[in-house]
Amino acid sequence: MKRILITGALGQIGSELTLKLRELYGIDNVIATDIKKNDSEAALGGPFETLDVTDGKKMVEIAKKYRVDTIMHLAALLSATAEAKPVFAWNLNMGGLLNALETAREVKAQFFTPSSIGAFGPSTPKDRTPQDTIMRPTTMYGVNKVAGELLADYYYHKFAVDTRGVRFPGLISYVALPGGGTTDYAVEIYYEAVKHRRYTCYIDKGTYMDMMYMPDALNAIVDLMEADPAKLIHRNSFNVSAMSFDPEEIASSIAKYIPGFKISYDVDPARQKIAESWPNSLDTTAAKEEWGFHYEYDLDKMTEDMIDKLRQKFHYRISG
Ligand code: SER
Repeated sequence: MKRILITGALGQIGSELTLKLRELYGIDNVIATDIKKNDSEAALGGPFETLDVTDGKKMVEIAKKYRVDTIMHLAALLSATAEAKPVFAWNLNMGGLLNALETAREVKAQFFTPSSIGAFGPSTPKDRTPQDTIMRPTTMYGVNKVAGELLADYYYHKFAVDTRGVRFPGLISYVALPGGGTTDYAVEIYYEAVKHRRYTCYIDKGTYMDMMYMPDALNAIVDLMEADPAKLIHRNSFNVSAMSFDPEEIASSIAKYIPGFKISYDVDPARQKIAESWPNSLDTTAAKEEWGFHYEYDLDKMTEDMIDKLRQKFHYRISG
């Protein structure tokens, strides 16, 4: 990876990935794009172009202008928003992906796009969900992710585009908020814990989902893209995860650092239904064996860091 085009660079993953890649490969070698510019460091700290990913012609123009050799396609709607606007989600998620793959084919770029635990469905084995298993998702987001995995594999086999991907679990970070996802509660809970010492959760107790702290997610992307292709049996996409918990377990972890923290429940049926259709925990053996996937943060280590960073962010000084 030397010259990288990122779509959705101002989103939840992109805001941090852009900075990390600029550190690793040089500021001018990472071209951030998003539908609108904002005043974040990712937008202002290096090359930036506005790009609506449904505009394939402009995507190719930008890729050629900067002579990129890698495309990281992050622009997409998350699960709950996609469920609320399914046709828009199909057009954006699938149209954007097809344009990004076509751009990669045209400029001969290596390609990354994230899939998700949302690619699985109710008929998938729920515990230690295997790498290769039944994938019959019941959400528009999931349909997009499975189709996207297949399309990325197709571009590898048919056009020799070096496509790679991971199935991300819920990603937790103190930098950019996710928007419209089902796993977002696991981010919001930290913000509310730091600000108010309590959180009303829209996902019910006993609902387990995989999660990962953003620094581990960013390392996974870089490691997979740098991996020796000869070792990759799979490509699109690898199960990755660092932890699996339900709302009670994350609340207990927070209470260790913010005594008196209280969780209560007001379950949102729409997001609860999505969560129940997803696995409880993923088997990540293939990622470990084929490219050395590993992680540093378990639940408590992540909780400690999240609370520390959010307190700095909000200048809160809550003792004990
Ligand atoms: N975090 C995503 C969502 O909840 C899952 O990939 O939609």
